[in-house]
Amino acid sequence: MELEKYIVTNSGNNINTFFLFNNDKFKTCLEGLFKIIYKYNTLEGNCLCDLVNNKLILRENYENSRKNLFYQTKNVNNILEIGFNSGFSTLLMLLSNNYSKILCIDICRHIYTKECFKFLQTEFPERLTLIEGDSQIVLKEINFDFKFDFVEIDGNHTYEYHKNDLLDAMKFTKKGTIIFMDDLNNHGGPKTIKSFEGKINKYYIKDLWDKFIELKIILPVKDWYPNKYHGLGIQNVTF
Ligand SMILES: C[S@@+](CC[C@H](N)C(=O)[O-])C[C@H]1O[C@@H](n2cnc3c(N)ncnc32)[C@H](O)[C@@H]1O
Repeated sequence: MELEKYIVTNSGNNINTFFLFNNDKFKTCLEGLFKIIYKYNTLEGNCLCDLVNNKLILRENYENSRKNLFYQTKNVNNILEIGFNSGFSTLLMLLSNNYSKILCIDICRHIYTKECFKFLQTEFPERLTLIEGDSQIVLKEINFDFKFDFVEIDGNHTYEYHKNDLLDAMKFTKKGTIIFMDDLNNHGGPKTIKSFEGKINKYYIKDLWDKFIELKIILPVKDWYPNKYHGLGIQNVTF
């Protein structure tokens, strides 16, 4: 299968030299997802590619994000993902081991989201669940009789949402849960926002991440592929 038909690199690097692009299941699933995205010709930012002038371009600088999503979910059973979008990060985690189950929460504001989800659900039976809704409503309504081992926070990209999504998710996690928080370089937009300590100011999500680390609620991981776009840590407390 020639994935170059669907996705290209800006640098001229061969797509097959990138992480997992030689894996047959990855290729089959990408082809399915790419077809859906091309049909609707729209795509929100994600860990894999951008849609520019009707062409998918690989995000080469997100290679380490993809590796972390894959390698850090190798030994986990239950994953909570806030922000499914078109399923690229979900796909990496699904391929990482054959047994994990992933609960995705997404507001499904994009026309392609549910179709991409159904496609992956068919490719990986019994492993995926989607709850459609605003994470801040859903997380307050749901409950589980188990704890998640890995949480990816990648829904609404404001400081406030990232903070509350993580704090609410921590009702369903434990000491040792791996936390992946995306978009550290984002802030709450032009408006001022409420910080972790209740002050009103404009903060980047990285400030929030640093605060969790400073308070030792999350400990940094040592064995990761360094990346400025996301934080990766181990939860150090059980709430
Ligand atoms: C950046 S995309 C996620 C990308 C995905 N994790 C990946 O790397 O392939 C963010 C997703 O979060 C969803 N979203 C935005 N606000 C949300 C909210 N308040 N609750 C739940 N999902 C939300 C968007 O609809 C979008 O699908």
